[in-house]
Amino acid sequence: MEREKIVVLDFGGQYNQLIARRVRECNVYCEVVPYQKAMAALTAEPPKGIIFTGGPGSVYDPASPQVDPAVFSLGIPILGICYGCQLLAHNLGGRVTAAQDDSAREYGKTETYFDTGCRLFRGLPEKGVTWMSHGDYMEKVPDSFRLAAHSDACPNVAICDEERGFYGVQFHPEVNHTENGTAMIRNFLYEVCGCTGSWRMEDFCKSAIASLREEIGEEGRVLLALSGGVDSSVLAALLAEAIGHRLTCVFVDHGLMRKNEGDEVEEAFRKWDVNFVRVDAEERFLSKLSGVEDPQEKRRIIGAEFGYVFRDEAERFGITNRDFLAQGTIYPDVIESGEGDADVIKSHHNRLLPPEVVARFKGVLEPLSLLFKDEVRALGRELGLSEQLVMRQPFPGPGLAIRILGAVTKEKADTLREADYIFREEIARAGEDKNLSQYFAVLTNARSVGVMGDGRTYDYTLALRGVTTTDFMTADWARIPYDLLQTISGRIVNEVKGINRIVYDITSKPPATIEWE
Ligand code: XMP
Repeated sequence: MEREKIVVLDFGGQYNQLIARRVRECNVYCEVVPYQKAMAALTAEPPKGIIFTGGPGSVYDPASPQVDPAVFSLGIPILGICYGCQLLAHNLGGRVTAAQDDSAREYGKTETYFDTGCRLFRGLPEKGVTWMSHGDYMEKVPDSFRLAAHSDACPNVAICDEERGFYGVQFHPEVNHTENGTAMIRNFLYEVCGCTGSWRMEDFCKSAIASLREEIGEEGRVLLALSGGVDSSVLAALLAEAIGHRLTCVFVDHGLMRKNEGDEVEEAFRKWDVNFVRVDAEERFLSKLSGVEDPQEKRRIIGAEFGYVFRDEAERFGITNRDFLAQGTIYPDVIESGEGDADVIKSHHNRLLPPEVVARFKGVLEPLSLLFKDEVRALGRELGLSEQLVMRQPFPGPGLAIRILGAVTKEKADTLREADYIFREEIARAGEDKNLSQYFAVLTNARSVGVMGDGRTYDYTLALRGVTTTDFMTADWARIPYDLLQTISGRIVNEVKGINRIVYDITSKPPATIEWE
């Protein structure tokens, strides 16, 4: 059966994988392709439709990403978003210029009026908020196009040539701030491209298993970097399905796990029918981290040390250079580590393997690297993992090292472990865990004066962090009830030596990130 596919042509925007994710949410398979490879991808397996993403460039600047004009003659519908819309206009006889005055530049939420006679907006309200982020202005719309949406400041917020199936929107339908944005994408897929929406997570699961089998071969073995978190556990289940006992799961206890966590992971995986190994590497990690204060440097050291442990374990188990290393890397890890044209926010540990470790294996398998967290969870359910495992809150690979600001010591790790445990215990006791996506304590490097009993103290400040999110790319701080915060604060200051002040983090992501380092 012919596969229904959409190609998302990537022009370097921030939300490109989010567009892909929305397409998958509409049950249509999709691939993100860099714009330079457009024609090869579009002719090898012609898709039902093409989406041009946004991007930071200006179409009239010759150095900005351009598209091969042949793409407009393929007879395939196109939806251009933001920069993609301007590219469409620029190539088909319109004119795009830098906005001369501020009124033509639009950023943020904008009241927008739609022509619901246009297939893109069919069945949707005539008015709604859209999320704009463009500094360029479409001065002249191409001849064959008509206007399909406007705002108070801009007459051509959306354009269409329904005959050819070409649509352009100056706003971002893929972000949550745009009302009915996913419905607009669905209209493009179903009404314009004629997709039927037959793709399911089950299909992803089957095709991921098939391609893992093909890549690993009949004899190949895999060493999986297992943290016991959602991502690597889902990958363990996927690989176990694909290659059975040719999989070895290596769980590295770096001494920076939460209280009891190492034992819990071990207990859970001993029950699975997989090869499971626990490596106690506390000494090794703590000595490498000694005196290191810079967050990126800590991440680099931890990422590298993980790699060296995997290399040593591979030697121990006779895993050769015909075999593979697998990691549960997911999309936010990739994008925040600054791959492609994106800025480095923080290097996630699994992007920091030393080259000599990578070279030791035939390849590194990262089959989840295009999925968002909630998609990984859906895949876990598809593979039959328990709800408890699938819904576990994330715990970062570098562990408490990035929750201890400044240099890491065993003493600080023990202090933080105790405080974090009390926080988690009280949250669970109050039944608040179901309202939080992630919550943890951070040992700040700040010390301040307090008074306990009749004496002066000069101890550390602990920060509590609780967030709500689904994809972990953006997050809001959680409204934990004050009384509960009071109980937690009281218990920690009383029970944990070295902490005399508690603060609660009330910043969302962006502008902050979820972890502090
Ligand atoms: P940030 O702090 O970037 O975190 O907002 C987003 C999500 O990713 C987790 N995180 C990591 N996970 N390795 C991981 O496996 C890492 O190096 C890492 N850094 C952050 C973080 O806990 C949150 O869920």
